[in-house]
Amino acid sequence: MTRLPFELLPDNSRLSDSGSLQIGGVDTLELANEYGTPLFVYDEEHLRDRCLQAVAGFPDGAVYATKAFLCRAMARLAHEEGMLLDVATGGELHVALAAGVPASSLVFHGNNKSPAELELGLRAGVGLIVIDSFDEIDRLEELVAGGLPTPHVLVRITPGVEAQTHEFVSTGQDDSKFGFTVSTGAAARAVERVARSGAMSLKGIHCHIGSQVFRVESFADALAVVARFSDQFGIELVNLGGGLGVAYVEGESAPSIAEWAATIHGAAQDAGLTAALMAEPGRAITAAAAVTLYRVGTIKEIPDVRTYIAVDGGMSDNPRPILYGSGYETFLPRSVSAARPKQIRLVGKHCESGDLLVSEGKLPSDVAVGDIVATPVTGSYGHSMGSNYNKVLRPAVVFVADGDARLVVRRETYDDLLATDVG
Ligand SMILES: Cc1ncc(COP(=O)(O)O)c(C=O)c1O
Repeated sequence: MTRLPFELLPDNSRLSDSGSLQIGGVDTLELANEYGTPLFVYDEEHLRDRCLQAVAGFPDGAVYATKAFLCRAMARLAHEEGMLLDVATGGELHVALAAGVPASSLVFHGNNKSPAELELGLRAGVGLIVIDSFDEIDRLEELVAGGLPTPHVLVRITPGVEAQTHEFVSTGQDDSKFGFTVSTGAAARAVERVARSGAMSLKGIHCHIGSQVFRVESFADALAVVARFSDQFGIELVNLGGGLGVAYVEGESAPSIAEWAATIHGAAQDAGLTAALMAEPGRAITAAAAVTLYRVGTIKEIPDVRTYIAVDGGMSDNPRPILYGSGYETFLPRSVSAARPKQIRLVGKHCESGDLLVSEGKLPSDVAVGDIVATPVTGSYGHSMGSNYNKVLRPAVVFVADGDARLVVRRETYDDLLATDVG
């Protein structure tokens, strides 16, 4: 019979007189009617607050990891609030530049940047390139020898730390496709080579241990390796990546960005790290800022088995449940504080039995076809990881603040599906 834990909702969530959910002063049911469903609704003030916490917590560089959620409005917002932006592909770089973010505010990541992507970054003048492999050093040297500008770079080291998160988002262990391994000596060789190279200017190192990390000790373990390494090579700038976990379902709790920053600085001090410290939160900036609104299309009750509630989206707007087995809460925005005695499975409209949005959800027992149902904490790695599977149209995105909604990504049309089809 549990009610939705309100702390999972965006900061500026309120109940209307009729008990429906308003975010940023705008009624979510009206948003669903006006913009259609599925719809991502972001609380703009919540986003700004998380950016400000990151900037205050990491004055030497707070970098928004755009992979979590990127559109021009989001890139602009993060930049306006003083964040740098992490882009991991030519595509993310293109969108950030199109948003008007200066290239000097960009940190260019990626374990397999192509020569064309590197060229794009060099020509634009990105602030930092994070070098991930010896092949990338070769490529940069070749491009600079060909007349492109000399970049400022970080070398990504892999500290040999298990972050104790899902295998697919764990990146700090030795057995990883990312970065230069410390334990094999590759990291030392890479730093020595970059420092000697006339084609790039070494500014420091980078180290990201994973995503959705709750265990503070994992960051402390990584910092201990980073501190020893930095000491050995006179490193003056360390980018500690992202990874701060967020609460998705009832019973979970996560530190705020401000608390995380304080812990990281404390652990850095304990480890004897004297270098300046940057961080790259993604999920912690955007996840809890948004809810996704869906419309219920069919309800299938299988006695003694379960109730399937099918909505007009699915794995194409949120693949996390099928990728990582991630859990979410479910609720009806028309009666946010109602008891939720009905056990349901929220599924999408794709041709896969695996097309689950919420495997074990709860809803009020009067849920009916036509209702708007919502999943909170869907602001990260939902829209950005979405697809057009089954030629389902990608949803619209609205930002809400001070009683106003603005459309920042329009819903795709059927014609959009043919935009690249030249056949
Ligand atoms: C290099 C790097 N930085 C930052 C992030 C952001 O991580 P999170 O969203 O968990 O904060 C990632 C995520 O994959 C990453 O690979």
